[in-house]
Amino acid sequence: MVVMPDAIYLLGMLTNIRGKTSVVLGATRGIGRATAALLRDEGARVVITSRELARAQDVAAQLGEGVEGRAVDVTDPAALAAVFAEIGRFDHLVCTAASAVLGPLAEVPLDAVEALVASKFWGQYHAVRAAIPHLDPRGAVVLFSGTVTQKVLPGASAYAAVGAAIEAAGRTWAAELAPRRINTVVPGVIDTPVWDGLLDAASKQAHFAGVADALPVGRPGLAREVAKAVAFLLDNEFVDGASLVIDGGHRLI
Ligand SMILES: NC(=O)c1ccc[n+]([C@@H]2O[C@H](COP(=O)([O-])OP(=O)(O)OC[C@H]3O[C@@H](n4cnc5c(N)ncnc54)[C@H](OP(=O)(O)O)[C@@H]3O)[C@@H](O)[C@H]2O)c1
Repeated sequence: MVVMPDAIYLLGMLTNIRGKTSVVLGATRGIGRATAALLRDEGARVVITSRELARAQDVAAQLGEGVEGRAVDVTDPAALAAVFAEIGRFDHLVCTAASAVLGPLAEVPLDAVEALVASKFWGQYHAVRAAIPHLDPRGAVVLFSGTVTQKVLPGASAYAAVGAAIEAAGRTWAAELAPRRINTVVPGVIDTPVWDGLLDAASKQAHFAGVADALPVGRPGLAREVAKAVAFLLDNEFVDGASLVIDGGHRLI
């Protein structure tokens, strides 16, 4: 068997993942999909979701044995409650589902901003609330913010506001829901399909080249690098109420 360097780094070390049930909301692409793949490789039973059942099932089949796909729109609290009741007791909840929008205040379409708030703020709020009866008392939640909360990016005010609200809510939920642990991942620029919806191909290439020039690490991040941070937060029982920045040093420049 050929063992890849990432597998050597993680395989068998994450004792709170093997044999556990992990629910990853929004896992048909990008960071959610990479997280589901890593948790499965580490021995978890993984439930992934999409707004489209067929898409969730397709991706689950691609990820292989131990992964099942379900449909839920995270903007719908009743649908979240129903899907969690179907899954039964689980150990991990990862909330990556979100829509996307960038644009200056005077120009950004309000309906797209409202969709971002509905999915990324209310979606995570509804998901954690609906998970409470099903999440094991020793379980853990990983929420998603973004480094625009710390590093101003013109055009990203809705992301900044939502991310800051989620980091603050996550710390409060960590206190309220103990001994369950609640932590937040704060990604910088990560090369996922989200950028294809935000920028045309030429603008995306120029943006990524600029990011590579500017960042101390010399490149944008990869989805599996964020997935490793999620796995760390799920695994490590002494990390609680934290915001973990994964940004290649973006906030330093
Ligand atoms: N990529 C970056 O540079 C970056 C930077 C900072 C923060 N983040 C954050 O990291 C998280 C993941 O980002 P990503 O880049 O992996 O995004 P992505 O590639 O666009 O994937 C988003 C996922 O969310 C699902 N989704 C979208 N709206 C949904 C809804 N209303 N209900 C349920 N599922 C929904 C999509 O599935 P379906 O379409 O199949 O439903 C998809 O699987 C997000 O919170 C994002 O804001 C990303």
